[in-house]
Amino acid sequence: MNNSRAIGVFDSGLGGLTVAKEIIKLLPYEDIVYFGDTGRVPYGTKSPETIKKYTRQDESFLLSKNVKLIVAACGTVSSVAGDVSKKLPVPFIEVISHSVIDAVSATKNKKIGILATAATIKSGAHKKKILELLPEAEVTEVSGTLLVPLVEEGFTDKDDTMVSEAVKRYTDVFIKNGVDTVILGCTHFPVLSDAIAKVLGENVTLINMGVSTARAVKKLIEDNGIGNGNGGSHKFYVSDKGASFSKTASVLLGEKIDELCVETVDLS
Ligand code: DGL
Repeated sequence: MNNSRAIGVFDSGLGGLTVAKEIIKLLPYEDIVYFGDTGRVPYGTKSPETIKKYTRQDESFLLSKNVKLIVAACGTVSSVAGDVSKKLPVPFIEVISHSVIDAVSATKNKKIGILATAATIKSGAHKKKILELLPEAEVTEVSGTLLVPLVEEGFTDKDDTMVSEAVKRYTDVFIKNGVDTVILGCTHFPVLSDAIAKVLGENVTLINMGVSTARAVKKLIEDNGIGNGNGGSHKFYVSDKGASFSKTASVLLGEKIDELCVETVDLS
């Protein structure tokens, strides 16, 4: 069965583009509608009530675009607002579950680290799911709050001392606790992979939630027979087009975003 409706992807800002990038790689003929709540980012420092309210609005916007499924490409939304998304009229995929499965199969010493926003760490979502699959796992959780604005400002170079100092400050505890696998539990962090790998060394496996989630999206589409063989267009909506929008968006997506494909919307 062919279904030409788009895949809806949303995030608190532009970090979810790291997930969209992986979906595009695996499913090049799918249309994608992306919404980034750039006017209200970050979500990771806000209360669960506010995150849930924003999530409802983000999802309603995507539904108004007639999407066939919704991907919450945001670690914070996925860990805090899961119950909101249970009521959606279309299939829903979040970024925690599949990355946890990948982390549990990657670890050899059962010591897993989570690097995410404060709200995600406070929710304990990754840890809970890891312990369900691997009860004897030792989980080290770190909220890397300052890493989000660094990425939003385009500071990602592994050789930039400001970047490596910030990464070191947050990830030293992973080395101290001997973790061999770290889930990049915030969708902004895959672009810091090189900087994080440089600090943690090559023996630590980094789990990119975008890669795990894109595989799950592909499977869901195949299992439900809702693939599109003729698409491939990508439309981006944001709630605020800040000064550095194009630069940051291009860093996260890994390709230049055509300004014409970006529209500003007011969700309120
Ligand atoms: N995209 C968010 C996440 O994955 C990080 C940015 C924010 O705090 O809103 O958790």
